[in-house]
Amino acid sequence: MLNKDFLWGGAMAANQCEGAYDDGGKGLSIMDIITAGSKNHPRQVTIDIQDERYYPNHEAIDFYHRYVEDTDLFQEMGLKCLRTSIAWSRIFPNGDESEPNEEGLQFYDRLFAELKRKGMESIVTISHYEMPLYLVKKYGGWRNRQLIEFYTRYAKVLFERYKGIVRYWMTFNEINSTVKIPMIAGVMIQPGENAKQIAYQALHHQFVASAKAVQLAHQIDPQNQVGCMVMTTVGYPKSCHPLDILAAQEYLRDGTLFFCDVQVRGYYPGYFQHYDIDLDITQQDKEDLKKGIVDYIGFSYYSSQVVSHLNEGEKVQGNIVTGLKNEYLQASEWGWQIDPQGLVYLMRILYERYQKPLFIVENGLGYNDQMNQEGQIIDNYRIEYMRKHIQAMKDIVEKENIDLIGYTVWAPIDIVSAGTGEMKKRYGMIYVDKDDEGHGSLKRRKKKSFEWYKQVIESNGEIL
Ligand code: BG6
Repeated sequence: MLNKDFLWGGAMAANQCEGAYDDGGKGLSIMDIITAGSKNHPRQVTIDIQDERYYPNHEAIDFYHRYVEDTDLFQEMGLKCLRTSIAWSRIFPNGDESEPNEEGLQFYDRLFAELKRKGMESIVTISHYEMPLYLVKKYGGWRNRQLIEFYTRYAKVLFERYKGIVRYWMTFNEINSTVKIPMIAGVMIQPGENAKQIAYQALHHQFVASAKAVQLAHQIDPQNQVGCMVMTTVGYPKSCHPLDILAAQEYLRDGTLFFCDVQVRGYYPGYFQHYDIDLDITQQDKEDLKKGIVDYIGFSYYSSQVVSHLNEGEKVQGNIVTGLKNEYLQASEWGWQIDPQGLVYLMRILYERYQKPLFIVENGLGYNDQMNQEGQIIDNYRIEYMRKHIQAMKDIVEKENIDLIGYTVWAPIDIVSAGTGEMKKRYGMIYVDKDDEGHGSLKRRKKKSFEWYKQVIESNGEIL
């Protein structure tokens, strides 16, 4: 049996659900200047808003104005928690102000009060791909050390304002994305620049900012639990060739574990030297990293890949990373290979290596749902995906006594896809009537998975 306080929930991010991109004194965020894309056409960063382009995050699903009705549905589904992020640019529209925007804070006051009233715990990601655009333009994003100060000021405002209201925090969503897609951290690489060096330095600034935030959170309220949040790279060796085994080991270590090593242990691991980065790290940084170790490991897991030292074979997409096709697995329309056992493999490694509580803060299936003639969405494939992942999670927790705080499915309701900007890459158990061009009534409709997940939660995972 899972623990009776197991946090069953849903996860989403401000920029993908809220919309209202310029309401309530909000400044522009980096996500506000990224166009829609599709599976084969990447989203584009336009630096400024161009009238003829479509920016799906501007309205998203209008959660900003519809959070009351949406949280009614989440309550009906039985969610015990909602993981969402705070849009940094609502609180500090430019990012470098000394005082926060009161109207922005009031929105989250209302949202968290609503969740509490409906029996749901608020779980907050402080920065989920939505840093203020001004910090990118004026300071060069996280490549600039000054960002540490702006971020900690922002985090302090949140910890003080939501003391006793929010208990679980995550500092940066998928912090490892900074080295894969530096633009997400507001780092625009110029031709001729050493991208790797700049990206790891930006990441270092985030590590320090995160560690300072952890310290602040603990000082302000010792009840606070602050986690790191990493996207995970599970890669199986293509063969038993010893070099394939090592390639797979490095894929996991360099893609996932390195980021936990620094944030869970509080220092750079010895193998970092082979990354060949000339890191600007001060004595104070080292002390901060040590004092700011996280309380738990939050992670996203969607799929696994195959790795070969020769990098030969059919390439497949995953969440931010690519890998090779696994002939034993099915994949989603977007090529993400479905692998519940990969979750077991990953949880074992994380728990055995760190002995810290784990929190599955993202897992789910993106699918182009269709409505039948009766207006129903019978998403058996999503139920199947979730059932198998939850079963795998539950078995390993029970058998091996893993300390797992909760499971928040991505996402309780359809939202804009981060990777492609599409609406049709739907994850929700609640359908939102909106298409990839921004047309639709925004009406909400329950999918079949809604009732299914409700029963899973009610039975604490016993009825799958
Ligand atoms: C994670 C992100 O990368 O995966 C989310 O934290 C994102 O923001 C989710 O939405 C699913 O990815 P996508 O690209 O299908 O939206």
